[in-house]
Amino acid sequence: MAEAAAEKLVCVTGAGGFIGSWLVKELLQRGYVVRGTARHPEDPKNAHLLALDGAQERLSLYHADVLDYMSLRRAFSLCDGVFHVASPVSNDPDLVPVAIEGTKNVLNAAADMGVQRVVFTSSYGAVHMNPNRDPDRTVDESCWSDLEFCKQTQNWYCYAKMVAEKTAMEEASKRGIQLLIVVPPGTIGRMLQPTLNLSLSIVATYMKGTKKAYSNAVGAYVDVRDVALAHILVYEDVSTHGRYLCIGHMLHQSEFLQMMRDLFPQYPITTKCKDENKPLIKPYKFSTQRLNALGMKFTTLKESLYNTVVSLQENGHIPVLLHKSSL
Ligand SMILES: NC(=O)c1ccc[n+]([C@@H]2O[C@H](COP(=O)([O-])OP(=O)(O)OC[C@H]3O[C@@H](n4cnc5c(N)ncnc54)[C@H](OP(=O)(O)O)[C@@H]3O)[C@@H](O)[C@H]2O)c1
Repeated sequence: MAEAAAEKLVCVTGAGGFIGSWLVKELLQRGYVVRGTARHPEDPKNAHLLALDGAQERLSLYHADVLDYMSLRRAFSLCDGVFHVASPVSNDPDLVPVAIEGTKNVLNAAADMGVQRVVFTSSYGAVHMNPNRDPDRTVDESCWSDLEFCKQTQNWYCYAKMVAEKTAMEEASKRGIQLLIVVPPGTIGRMLQPTLNLSLSIVATYMKGTKKAYSNAVGAYVDVRDVALAHILVYEDVSTHGRYLCIGHMLHQSEFLQMMRDLFPQYPITTKCKDENKPLIKPYKFSTQRLNALGMKFTTLKESLYNTVVSLQENGHIPVLLHKSSL
């Protein structure tokens, strides 16, 4: 059962980022009054937010750092809900405490200010990094990464997201907050923000030919608009609880790059696998039944990939190369 959006005040942390910007856009479109946080709201990199439909009337930008408790309390004051999207997206071990402490601060500041529902943006990195998972098992919300394995492989981003997610659960349960968790994998699609985030920069390196070989690995992907919508679906339905996997597609890197080459044959996208002599890793089965039950329909990978590349071109992150047949 969905709640009406009109006049509801919600806050989005990390509003100027790739996912945050789309979430702000979709919330404004549904009639919410939105506060977006950024560490430097006046930075030109956040100007696109104020140009969104409805922003003049219903968007305000607040300064907040997830390590500055008082800044979070100010941003959350009077809010019905908080979408905690902000996090360092980095493999730098020094930033691990920012993700974890930041999440603890967000949950507690939200509770202090009487916020009832918090949606936390987790990551597929908190789900699949487990070498002991049976490869035939369907990946669903009950799967967790193995923290020791993340440490051993120095995958600090996945480590941080998993501990942050667990921290969010603990704090929400202590403080009586209803917590909903959206778990997206590699997120692609059209960018609204002018700066390049990590997931799109990976696509850009393939398009530019700077990446000379791909891993024998399986990747999971979703469109950024679907991720934004998933946040709203889990927030609005009062019967929701816990984790929601938000995965559109799962395929081998070779298939992903083949799709890129089919769409944009004029770009120097590598055809070389890093370990060509080994059999290709098979994609896992996965379930998004929980999100599907809320009405989620995923964008096709072809459409997401096309929009990603056009958006990278439009924002000057990759050169515009013309296909011979279109000359
Ligand atoms: N993109 C993906 O493939 C993907 C997949 C799964 C999960 N996620 C999760 O989705 C969220 C957003 O990712 P994204 O791809 O949209 O990345 P992004 O564009 O780099 O956005 C990250 C946001 O976090 C904010 N942030 C970083 N450190 C902060 C701090 N100390 N205090 C306050 N804000 C801080 C940044 O704000 P400033 O403007 O202030 O720098 C920025 O708005 C993250 O939680 C990420 O883990 C992303």
